[in-house]
Amino acid sequence: VLYTTGLGYQQSAAMSTLLINQSKYAWLKELGLSEDNDGVYNGNWGGKGEVITSYCPANNEPIARVRQATMAEYEETVQKSRDAWKVWADIPAPKRGEIVRQIGDALRKKIKVLGSLVSLEMGKIYVEGVGEVQEYVDVCDYAVGLSRMIGGPVLPSERPGHALIEMWNPVGLVGIITAFNFPVAVYGWNNAIALICGNVCLWKGAPTTPLTSVAVTKIVAEVLEQNNLPGAICSMTCGGADIGTAMSKDERVDLVSFTGSTHVGKMVAMLVQERFGRNLLELGGNNAIIVFEDADLNLVVPSAVFASVGTAGQRCTTTRRLMLHGSIHDVVVERVAKAYKQVRIGDPWDRNTMYGPLHTKQAVDQYLAAIEQAKQQGGTVVCGGKVMDRPGNYVEPTIITGLAHDAPIVHTETFVPILYVLKFQTEEEAFAWNNEVKQGLSSSIFTKDMGRVFRWLGPKGSDCGIVNVNIPTSGAEIGGAFGGEKHTGGGRESGSDSWKQYMRRSTCTINYSKDLPLAQGIKFE
Ligand code: UN1
Repeated sequence: VLYTTGLGYQQSAAMSTLLINQSKYAWLKELGLSEDNDGVYNGNWGGKGEVITSYCPANNEPIARVRQATMAEYEETVQKSRDAWKVWADIPAPKRGEIVRQIGDALRKKIKVLGSLVSLEMGKIYVEGVGEVQEYVDVCDYAVGLSRMIGGPVLPSERPGHALIEMWNPVGLVGIITAFNFPVAVYGWNNAIALICGNVCLWKGAPTTPLTSVAVTKIVAEVLEQNNLPGAICSMTCGGADIGTAMSKDERVDLVSFTGSTHVGKMVAMLVQERFGRNLLELGGNNAIIVFEDADLNLVVPSAVFASVGTAGQRCTTTRRLMLHGSIHDVVVERVAKAYKQVRIGDPWDRNTMYGPLHTKQAVDQYLAAIEQAKQQGGTVVCGGKVMDRPGNYVEPTIITGLAHDAPIVHTETFVPILYVLKFQTEEEAFAWNNEVKQGLSSSIFTKDMGRVFRWLGPKGSDCGIVNVNIPTSGAEIGGAFGGEKHTGGGRESGSDSWKQYMRRSTCTINYSKDLPLAQGIKFE
């Protein structure tokens, strides 16, 4: 009884010291956030479900609380979204583009404050927080142009007096489930493109970044409301696995776009497939940089550091395997390790910081377990390897050498800043190692050899969705299609023709003659 009372006291003490109430964090109110926030939006705000507290990974202090969705609220929101679709689908695509343009402008006005929230709640450094809001802004611009370009070809018909045309229509309601590591950008890629295609969106962000979901939705909702459009065009239901499962099973959710782990993505995919729904999966990566003997090491070293240390190793595009040609192995390890020691570690919102905390305490445990396994499997820790003695979920960025290319830990994506360095001798071997992992997201080579560059891009080269030369594996632009093969899930988001994933295609044949010729010359009389 005494213990319980004590705990109760501690809890209420913590509640009274939410960061949002401290003057240092008063800027959170510019995003419309308060101590308790509604985690449901469907034109109206609500949230009658479990109350969750969002914690800052840099000090594990509570920021503010969010009221998640109940199942009844989920039901109501899906219904309202489908009703909103009836309005939205009738609006011409370039006019929908105009709304997306306004969303981009509204984000531009809040870019610094929203980037700061991402930094506070997710734990990535400020420039990266701002950077991912910039990705949403960029994809809005891209989508505005696209809103006047999407369409299908008019194809030659083999029959006289017939037209053969391809029509693209919106799928309807797009369910968007996003991960903690890009709590703005990944929603943005899906939202902007899905909208111009004529879909409505229902978003469930990560349960550990609910304030970012609420703040983004407030910005988007204001644009919709100012244009007298139904807010349910961009709905949100904060929640956990219950909401994610409901979306996956729900026949009214025409497309489920899921970003997260391969493990959960597989469960989502099975549920969606079970009902012959559509899914778009962005799952794990196990990305390699391959450095050949002719590489420009002045490009290699900063690339390896950015791609493995950036975002504290929590991008799906993070470099996890650094493959070095035997002739340059030692010098590159030495230079990269030296650069690691110069990485400025600190509070993520401090403008000088290059490296912040891991997102959760569980990730710290995963980091330690991975290092232990790597050692058992023959690895040597060259740099890092320890949890840091400071508040928050800080671990040292780590380099491990000496492992076999197919050691189990090397083939495992651990979402932390551990870089495995492998030594290879031939191009064939290096390309094979790149492709031998289950995942197929991003990959890079460093070389000046043009023949090798084109072999890398060709059928026997990288099997990934993102194939780079002389740049890191992470940090893709929005203009290309983003995604990967194999256990990465096969989906493509953002640029190029990714819009096709958000639409259904009809092949339409129109007879404008007075005869009825059949295809393939068949006579049926
Ligand atoms: C992710 O980690 O989920 O290419 C996405 C990049 C970013 C997106 C990463 N533009 O690293």
